[in-house]
Amino acid sequence: MGIQDTMLTDELNTRFAVPGLRFETGRGGLTRAVVQTPLAEGELYLHGAHVTAWAPRGHAAVLWLSESSHFEKGKPIRGGVPICFPWFGPHSNDPSAPAHGFARLAGWNVASTHAMDGGAIVLELETTIESFAMRYRVEFGSELKLALATHLPTSVDRSATFEDALHTYFSVSDVRSISIHGLENASYLDKVDGAQLKSAATFPIAFSGETDRVYLHTLSDCSLIDVGSQRSIRVAKSGSRSTVVWNPWIDKSKRMADFGDEEWRSMVCIETANVDGNRIELAPGQTHETSAIISVSKLD
Ligand code: BG6
Repeated sequence: MGIQDTMLTDELNTRFAVPGLRFETGRGGLTRAVVQTPLAEGELYLHGAHVTAWAPRGHAAVLWLSESSHFEKGKPIRGGVPICFPWFGPHSNDPSAPAHGFARLAGWNVASTHAMDGGAIVLELETTIESFAMRYRVEFGSELKLALATHLPTSVDRSATFEDALHTYFSVSDVRSISIHGLENASYLDKVDGAQLKSAATFPIAFSGETDRVYLHTLSDCSLIDVGSQRSIRVAKSGSRSTVVWNPWIDKSKRMADFGDEEWRSMVCIETANVDGNRIELAPGQTHETSAIISVSKLD
């Protein structure tokens, strides 16, 4: 548990509130930062360093959040941007270990906050997971900038590996009528077909059933075209060689306790990741940064 899990929001506000950002008690009694500026609105829970909302002014919510989400210590929040770390998916040999690792369940501490020239708000959080020192920088502005830095201290005597993902959930008008562009030439592990490695299609991704694909060795940015919402969402990335695309469709939605039966229609995940053969190895003293920049524009 992080020190600031027990800190009153008054204390957090005294130390870290800046114009446009304040702390309050949010859902389930968990502490959240709330951002309201002329540029954007946003929200981040210290539980998991979990961004749960972001919308630039003039746009509807960009991130999707389940109405059935837990807001409870020990359980991940469903929607927004969970951080997957230090493994992705189920643990390779311990079925009792939490899916997608500890980071989204950890108490994170606020390291700093500041208002940038131009009006964006920056929030930096930190925690330690296993031997790794983690720092997460979130900039709420007309773009949402996420940067997860993982450092292996020199006090550790050997190198270590990890997987990570900024598991971004996007709100869409209807997943059956969107398309995702940018992964046309990447091969992927098809997790709904025995994790077989498949060649990429030459056309953009469209959805007509459960989709769970781990695209490997891809540095490409992605665009989500949503004609029904008249908008396009861009996910630009760096320090990431994998991209995961996920929609649970009908049956899996029903099996998940924290996911509404009909909610699969209104979401899709495009995850900025380093997983499987793209896992990261750090020598003592090294740092890796995985980052995503999300922007939204209206379609003509
Ligand atoms: C995706 C995985 O990233 O996350 C899926 O590829 C998984 O296999 C999904 O079902 C949700 O995971 P969780 O642990 O949040 O239910």
